[in-house]
Amino acid sequence: MPHDPPLLEAHAASVTFRGGIGRPDVHALRQVSVTLPAASIVAVVGESGSGKTTLTRLLLGLDHPGSGQIRYAGTDVAAMAPPARTAFRREVQAVFQDPFAAFNPFYRVDRALVLPARRFGLAATDRAARALAADCLAKVGLRPADTLGRFPHQLSGGQRQRLMVARAIMLRPRAIVADEPVSMVDASLRATILETLYRLCVDDGIAILYVTHDLTTAYQVADRVVVMRSGQVVEEGAAEAVIGNPSHPYTRALVAAVPPPDPLRTGWLDADAPTMGLA
Ligand SMILES: Nc1ncnc2c1ncn2[C@@H]1O[C@H](COP(=O)(O)OP(=O)(O)OP(=O)(O)O)[C@@H](O)[C@H]1O
Ligand SMILES: [Mg+2]
Repeated sequence: MPHDPPLLEAHAASVTFRGGIGRPDVHALRQVSVTLPAASIVAVVGESGSGKTTLTRLLLGLDHPGSGQIRYAGTDVAAMAPPARTAFRREVQAVFQDPFAAFNPFYRVDRALVLPARRFGLAATDRAARALAADCLAKVGLRPADTLGRFPHQLSGGQRQRLMVARAIMLRPRAIVADEPVSMVDASLRATILETLYRLCVDDGIAILYVTHDLTTAYQVADRVVVMRSGQVVEEGAAEAVIGNPSHPYTRALVAAVPPPDPLRTGWLDADAPTMGLA
């Protein structure tokens, strides 16, 4: 039986930013291969400037690699014909670090949900789209009545972040690429948002690529961890192996930098920890 291709994949992808006069080129990604299998959570960790955001932009089809390929269900994203591209745009959704940048400040929040629901044919009328939006808001713990009529600046950062997750799940994606989705929210909300992403994978089979600086949460949610440094993948494997028993010196240094006492073993997914709503 032929092997199914992975859901989303970077294959030997390289990106170089030209430096301009007197400045060197930046090799943001060098031959990076990363695989996101269906219904799994893969964390991408690495220090600032290691190429994580550059990689997520490729995986979302927002930029194309200078060499190498991004493949969705085995098809080169750069070479997709319009119908496949439309499906890709719906099926692979983004959650960004700064949710404010993702919303047009001049429109009320409902527009950001109703328009894509209509555009992708998930609702036949504005009224049906609003009902669908309300369901998705409830799923991320937002009250539709308090949210839909507001402008983005009238919501808190954490509410905006959850709004972006609501919009992503409304489109019934097969994958969510989340670039530092919780680095700008406080600790309690971080747990709520990560729990939502975790449940989307476990309950709904949505694959999650979770980009973070934070090894603790990577360990808590991810099946696999990819460690990046200076535009390259330096280590990759099961979360317990990479974080529990790192083989690359850089990963060891990252693990050693996690503050004590052994926070890797405590948290919202731990059996002994407060469940924070996890049954
Ligand atoms: N549009 C651009 N033009 C020029 N250089 C860029 C551009 N975008 C990113 N870079 C450079 O590419 C490298 C990788 O950047 P990238 O944003 O992917 O890192 P990152 O791992 O996401 O970092 P952070 O954790 O701070 O978000 C950095 O050296 C960055 O300065
Ligand atoms: Mg980044």
